[in-house]
Amino acid sequence: MEYKIVSRSEEETKDLGRKLSGILKAGSVVALDGDLGAGKTVFTKGLCEGIGVTSRVASPTFTIVNEYLGGSIPVYHFDTYRLEGADDFLDSGLDEYFYQDGICVIEWSSVIEELLPPNSIRIFIRGVGSERDLTVVYDENEYDEETNGKLKEVFQR
Ligand SMILES: Nc1ncnc2c1ncn2[C@@H]1O[C@H](COP(=O)(O)OP(=O)(O)O)[C@@H](O)[C@H]1O
Ligand SMILES: [Mg+2]
Repeated sequence: MEYKIVSRSEEETKDLGRKLSGILKAGSVVALDGDLGAGKTVFTKGLCEGIGVTSRVASPTFTIVNEYLGGSIPVYHFDTYRLEGADDFLDSGLDEYFYQDGICVIEWSSVIEELLPPNSIRIFIRGVGSERDLTVVYDENEYDEETNGKLKEVFQR
């Protein structure tokens, strides 16, 4: 599936993350791409809010991954900007997180493109000023009918 969504404010982008969070479960992967300042972290903040994360949500640029354990399900927040590529990710054993008990959210996910699990929900963000174009891509064969219906509700405008 592919959806195009326009966000006209930080709050709208956050709200989309919040809404998506309700559908996610252990093993879900949300893969975010877009230039610096696109709104990847803003989206993640909304998603974490939906999960009930109470700790501060910020790009884990130096640590590569932040773990937020205070919500209804663990959220693992990656920023792969500083990695050389997929091998770097694998060498650090970070792919283990994909098969854990939580949700993975990855900023700059194209750096590890070939490692993204087939159920990944990819979100590409573009834009300037306060307007953003979000392109959402996922394989609907990875989801049951009910979940596909819910995903459609979140992304279809
Ligand atoms: N429609 C929008 N959606 C998301 N962020 C927006 C939007 N309009 C303006 N912004 C601003 O863009 C910036 C996005 O920052 P951030 O989420 O940290 O980017 P990234 O993590 O992609 O580098 C924030 O300062 C935010 O206020
Ligand atoms: Mg960021």
